[in-house]
Amino acid sequence: LLLIISWLTQKITCVPQESRVLDRSSFPDDFIFGTAISAFQSEGATSEGGKSPTIWDYFSHTFPERTNMHNGDVAADFYHRYKDDIKLMKELNMDAFRFSISWARLIPSGKVKDGVNKEGIQFYRALIDELIASGIQPSVTLYHWDHPQALEDEYGGFLSPQIIDDFRNFARVCFENFGDKVKMWTTINEPYVISVAGYESGNKAVGRCSKWVNSRCQAGDSAVEPYIVSHHLLLSHAAAVQEFRNCNKTLQDDKIGIVLSPWWLEPSDSTSFTDKKAVKRGLAVEVDWHLHPVIYGDYPEIMKKYVGDKLPSFTPEESKMLINSSDFIGVNYYSARFTAHLPRIDPGRTRFRTDHHYEKRVTNHSNHQIGPGEERGIIHSYPEGLRRLLNYIKDKYNNPIIYIKENGVNDYDDGSKSREDILNDTFRISYHEDHLKQLHKAIIDDGCDVRGYYVWSLLDNFEWEFGYSTRFGLYYVDYQNLKRYPKKSVNWFRQFLSRPPVVK
Ligand code: NOJ
Repeated sequence: LLLIISWLTQKITCVPQESRVLDRSSFPDDFIFGTAISAFQSEGATSEGGKSPTIWDYFSHTFPERTNMHNGDVAADFYHRYKDDIKLMKELNMDAFRFSISWARLIPSGKVKDGVNKEGIQFYRALIDELIASGIQPSVTLYHWDHPQALEDEYGGFLSPQIIDDFRNFARVCFENFGDKVKMWTTINEPYVISVAGYESGNKAVGRCSKWVNSRCQAGDSAVEPYIVSHHLLLSHAAAVQEFRNCNKTLQDDKIGIVLSPWWLEPSDSTSFTDKKAVKRGLAVEVDWHLHPVIYGDYPEIMKKYVGDKLPSFTPEESKMLINSSDFIGVNYYSARFTAHLPRIDPGRTRFRTDHHYEKRVTNHSNHQIGPGEERGIIHSYPEGLRRLLNYIKDKYNNPIIYIKENGVNDYDDGSKSREDILNDTFRISYHEDHLKQLHKAIIDDGCDVRGYYVWSLLDNFEWEFGYSTRFGLYYVDYQNLKRYPKKSVNWFRQFLSRPPVVK
C-alpha cells in the first residue's frame, strides 16, 4: 500500500490538468501501447527456412543503387533473435507488438495450391507463442509490401486482378494457422504508398513509372497504374476480410482492418483560396481514396470527378464486399506538408498528382520557412497534424475506431556520427511526447475513438529506398554484429508506460 501511495503522490501532486505530464494513466484503461516492425525490414534470413524471393529481394538485388546498395538479407536478424527482442518489448513496458507475415515464407510460390511451407508456419507460430507467453499481444499485418516475386513474374502482381484470389488464399492460411492466438489483424499496409511510390514515382519496389518522371524507371505508366494497383489492393483487402468473417466463428470477436498512411496537409499560403481547395483535393487522395471504399463501398465523388475514367469502378458485388470491411481504421501518421494549387496540366505528361491539381511542398511559397514536411528523408515533427487528421476522419466517417499503427521519427546515419550521438535521441523523445499530447487531446477533448498507439519502430531496420542509412528504432542496431543498444527514448517510454506496483 505504501508503494502505491508513494507512486500516486509522485504522479498527481496537485499539478493542474494542462501542465500535467502525461503518462499511460492519462489514457483510457484499455488503451494499447505497442511497437511495430515488418517482415522484410527486420527478419533477414531471406533465403532460409524455405522462403522464396520477394519483390523487395528482387528489387534490391537487381537495382542495388535504388536501395542505397543495401538489401534485406540480414536486416536486424529478427528471424533468429526474436526471443531476445521480445525481452526488449517487456523492458519498454509495451502491451502489444505489430509485425507482418512474409507471404513468401509461408507460401513460396504465392499460390496455396502449390503448398504451404511448414517451416514458415512454425516460425510465426513460435513467435506468436513467445509473445503471448511474455504478455505481449500480437497484431499481425498480412501484407507489408513483400509478395513473392513469382507472382510478379507470372502475372504482374497487383497490376493484375489475379492477385485477389491468391491474397484471399494466403489470408485464409494465416487465419487457419494463427487465428486461435491472434486477436488483431491488419490486411494491407499503406496502399497509397504501394501505389504511388511503386507505380508513380518509382522510388519503391516494384519501381515502375513513366520514364520522364524518373529516368531510373524500367517501365510503367505513372498516369494510370497507381489507380489500378490501388483498386486491386482494396479488393484484396475486402477478400481477406470476407475470408476472415466466414472462416471460423471463434474469430468473430477478433478485429481486422486496413492501415492507411495519410500525411496531414496545410495550405502553402494560408490566405489563398485556391491553396485551401488544393488541400481538400489532396486530403481526398491522402485519406479518402482508400478509406471511403472500405466504409461506403465506392471511391469518393471528388476522386471520380478529377480522375475520370482512369479510375476503375467496383461492380455491385465488389461494392458489397467492401462496405464496412474494416472493423477499425489503422492510421500511420508521421508528418504533414504544405500544399499548393497546381494549375499547369500537360496532357502528354499527366501523372497522378496533376489529376488532382495539388502539389505537396516542404517549404511555403517564399521558400524561406521550413514548415510541416520532410527534409532530406527526415521526418519533420508536426504533431498538430495528427489531431487534425483524427478529427477529419471522425467528422467525415462517423467516428470510427482508430488505432495509430505507426508513429515515429528517424535520424540520418551517413557514418559521420558516433553511436553515442545516435543513442542520445532527445529529438525522438520530444517527437513522441508531442504526438502523444495531441493524441490525448483528440481522445479526451475531441472525442476521437482512438484505442491504441504503436511506435515505429522497435529496432533500427531496412528503410526501403534508404537502406540502413536512416534509423527509426528505439533500439540501435549495430549492423556489424547485430547487437542492440537502447537509445535514450527507451528509458523515456519505460517510465511513461510504467504501471503502479501490484498489491498481493
Ligand atoms: C511506414 C511504413 O509502413 C514502414 O514500412 C516504414 O518504415 C515507415 N513508414 C517509416 O518510413
